[in-house]
Amino acid sequence: MKFLLVTDLDNTLVGDDEATQVLNQFLLSKRSQICLVYATGRSHASTSELIAQKQLLAPDYLIAGVGSEIYQDGALDLDSAEDLSQGRDKMAIASLTQQFSPLKSPYPKEQNPWKISYSLEPTAENSSTVQAFPQKSTESGLPAQIIFSSNSDVDLLPQTSNKGNALTYLQKRLQIPSEATLVCGDSGNDISMFEQDVRGVIVGNALSELLEWHRECGTENHYLAGSACAWGIMEGMAYFWEF
Ligand code: GLC
Ligand code: MG
Repeated sequence: MKFLLVTDLDNTLVGDDEATQVLNQFLLSKRSQICLVYATGRSHASTSELIAQKQLLAPDYLIAGVGSEIYQDGALDLDSAEDLSQGRDKMAIASLTQQFSPLKSPYPKEQNPWKISYSLEPTAENSSTVQAFPQKSTESGLPAQIIFSSNSDVDLLPQTSNKGNALTYLQKRLQIPSEATLVCGDSGNDISMFEQDVRGVIVGNALSELLEWHRECGTENHYLAGSACAWGIMEGMAYFWEF
């Protein structure tokens, strides 16, 4: 049987170099049984830099831009882009964001045709901006999804684009059952993965937005690891897969 391991990068697979290398070795020993997917908020270019810098294994698939893009062997999967990004007019969303004073300067390298991202200071004013966004976008007839992570990262995406929908797209295509699919993450942009019909590991260093989600919505399919980063992933693999 093939297992599907879908892991976030920053502060999940990456964050403790020793743990990353121990997990790499373990995955190498099981490489033929595991389909390895990285799911990140980063662009393809920035992910490639991180893979080289941290000596990560080459994944079978890369879910980049918070689920707005899927790559296989460096090539964008155009079917998924079509599928995950319906109903999106980037320019219209950009004009909507201009009504929100704190959302002014997207970080240029991390934008793609389906994703606009900002970094915000964690102030009360900014937090109410983020909370008001879904209603504003619906009222303007430009329904968009807003994902808030790490107390500062704001991603605006089509309603169908997120890491969770992207991984389910792959899971269905690969026909891997839910008990053989494990997702791993630490922050807000990982929540959509835990909402799928999968098993999930929340690493020990997870941020408050994900811990809060777990308190409210967690089930027996979600494992809260005691240890941080890749050590937590290994705990989760042992817990669900008895590896
Ligand atoms: C990564 C991306 C950034 C995004 C964040 C949260 O840091 O570079 O654009 O906002 O993840 O998803
Ligand atoms: Mg992360």
